[in-house]
Amino acid sequence: MQKRIFTVLFFIVSFFSMADDGSRLWLKYDLIKDQKQKLSYQKYTKFISISANHPTLQKTAEELQMGFAGLLGTKTNIVSNNSQAGGVVLEVSTNQALTNDLANDGFAIFAQKGNLVISSKSEAGVLYGAFELLRRIQTGQSLNENIVSSPKIKIRMLNHWDNANGTVERGYAGSSIWKWNELPFRIDPRYIAYARANASLGINATSINNVNASSRFLTAEYLEKIKAVADVLRPYGIKVFISVNFRSPRTLGGLKTSDPLDPEVRKWWNEKTKEIHQYIPDFGGYLVKANSEGEPGPQDYGRTHADGANMLAEAMKPFSGIVIWRAFVYNADPNGDRFKEAYEQFKPLDGKFDEKVIVQVKNGPIDFMPREPFHPMFGNFPNTKLGIEFQITQEYLGQSTHLTYLAPMFKECLDTDTYSKGKGSTVAKVIDGSLYNNPNSLIAGVANTGSDANWCGHPFNQANWYAFGRLAWDYTLSSEKIANEWIGMTLTNDEKAKIQINEIMQKSLPTYISYTYPLGLHHMMGEGHHYGPEPWLTKAARPDWTSIYYHKADSVGLGFDRTGKLSNAIKLYSKEINETWGNPEKCDLNYLLWFHHIAWNKKLSTGNTLWEELCYRYYNGVVEVQKLQKDWLKLQPYIDTETFASVNARLKTQEKESIWWRDACVLYFKDFSKMPIPNSLTPPNRSLEEVKKIVEIYHLR
Ligand code: GCU
Repeated sequence: MQKRIFTVLFFIVSFFSMADDGSRLWLKYDLIKDQKQKLSYQKYTKFISISANHPTLQKTAEELQMGFAGLLGTKTNIVSNNSQAGGVVLEVSTNQALTNDLANDGFAIFAQKGNLVISSKSEAGVLYGAFELLRRIQTGQSLNENIVSSPKIKIRMLNHWDNANGTVERGYAGSSIWKWNELPFRIDPRYIAYARANASLGINATSINNVNASSRFLTAEYLEKIKAVADVLRPYGIKVFISVNFRSPRTLGGLKTSDPLDPEVRKWWNEKTKEIHQYIPDFGGYLVKANSEGEPGPQDYGRTHADGANMLAEAMKPFSGIVIWRAFVYNADPNGDRFKEAYEQFKPLDGKFDEKVIVQVKNGPIDFMPREPFHPMFGNFPNTKLGIEFQITQEYLGQSTHLTYLAPMFKECLDTDTYSKGKGSTVAKVIDGSLYNNPNSLIAGVANTGSDANWCGHPFNQANWYAFGRLAWDYTLSSEKIANEWIGMTLTNDEKAKIQINEIMQKSLPTYISYTYPLGLHHMMGEGHHYGPEPWLTKAARPDWTSIYYHKADSVGLGFDRTGKLSNAIKLYSKEINETWGNPEKCDLNYLLWFHHIAWNKKLSTGNTLWEELCYRYYNGVVEVQKLQKDWLKLQPYIDTETFASVNARLKTQEKESIWWRDACVLYFKDFSKMPIPNSLTPPNRSLEEVKKIVEIYHLR
């Protein structure tokens, strides 16, 4: 009988070690095989000591206990106030020399009297230190040196676009992770896994619902549910925010107006804010999308964004919370340039926002395109606290079928120089508050989580959640280092395989851009669902939702001239940027068609004409996908079966769709250029009409 149990157990264990559904994300804690390495870490596993009875310290100790058990096979007890050696000591302290210069939630890790001490001024900092320790053990690093680390940005946040009905706007990994029907009584174990994953990166805020917000989230019924989620996240150092619908005083409060200057409306928000704090005393605050894409807002009453935001800030005055007001606004003007809209609407309000307000600006001026120039608001709003918003979910970046690692994109934006206070005024320095003294610095990422077993759809999409969190903590980390950590914790620690996987990841974004939006093309995706190519989209509900509004293809050339009569958007940038991006001869080719209408036969710095270069890039993108496929096949021995197969299958789809993008764009633009596809390239084996049919299928009801 016993033998049979063992056999069954053996099969269960070997099944799980073979097939990994990805649900443990990067916190796998699988046993380290290298005995020497394991021994070197085991010298600190006699105990985990906590100095005070605090829920965050308790969770920290439990995490270490679980990590040590999995990684090192040890059974480590949690003790209070130890006096021995050979363990990990967790301490909240303000007098350690090493912690002196740290931010409140920074940490130091150092050896002392035979113990490893994790020290911080706050409990959350100790938690982040513990995750750093586990990361080092997971990735086989030595613990001999002191580690000192502080976050560069204060509020590191996920924005969920999750709806009350369980769907997720622009979500590609199943339905919402929040089970509103089950809350507040049933706490899905995933909420805890979610909190751990975020805490492991230092993410300390989450806005739980869609920015296209339902008033439902402000009802007592939902506040009770949100409270239950907040209670789970709190010990992990995560504050909850709510996206609010500006019309709530009318829809919920029964008022005749939601005018932010109306005393009754102000009273309603004051009371609602108080009520929220009865449920969630440490409520993070409000996130607001107003007067954008049909959402209500202060302009409905002839008021400004500042009037709206300041009203909410006033309601928040007695509390620690803040108001995050989004700058993603644009009016439907066929003769305008969406590029400039947010800037123009917000510029007169610079200096008019309450100190509790942060204006959250997307990384680029249009909408999370695969490559955008940085938003011109960065560096130009010295009197407004600006936060940045990236999209982790891949609305325009292959959703959950194309492999695209986004750290290089996040970094490209953060590292770009705005020159607003001279050389070195990078976007990152605007955001971290150092350039314009903003103590409430904010970085937000639109989450890519869902109910799929592996949380994110494509196994590699997990790396984007990971990378966002790591960069939010420290944007100076290289995208290679971040990828290396993630690969080691998630896929394999084999050194050779790690290098190859890292190369795949680094190549993935340029490859994707090459077969979708080369040379600075943008916004030519399928209407509504935003998947696949539709450069011929001429009519939509709004002119600025078409493709022709952006690429401006004609018999002369291609691209949006933003340096002249059509739009002078380039003037929103500094003189230095005008000298480069503003000059077609000097403009980085990656941004060329963002700013210039270039003649088809114009010779570029590569020696090719625009038309040739465009064709080469589209074709090369496909070749690069094929290379990624081949490179992935070689990695089979190092990757667990389920993950390997999942990525392999998705790469097949990616290859097929890269050809779809290439054929669609080359055939469509060929009708304007009237030039042949260069001889060295094999022309598509289908007509433009045939390619258009693929898109039609997407629109069938
Ligand atoms: C994009 C996206 C919308 C989203 C919007 C926003 O336009 O397609 O689904 O609501 O961004 O950021 O508010």
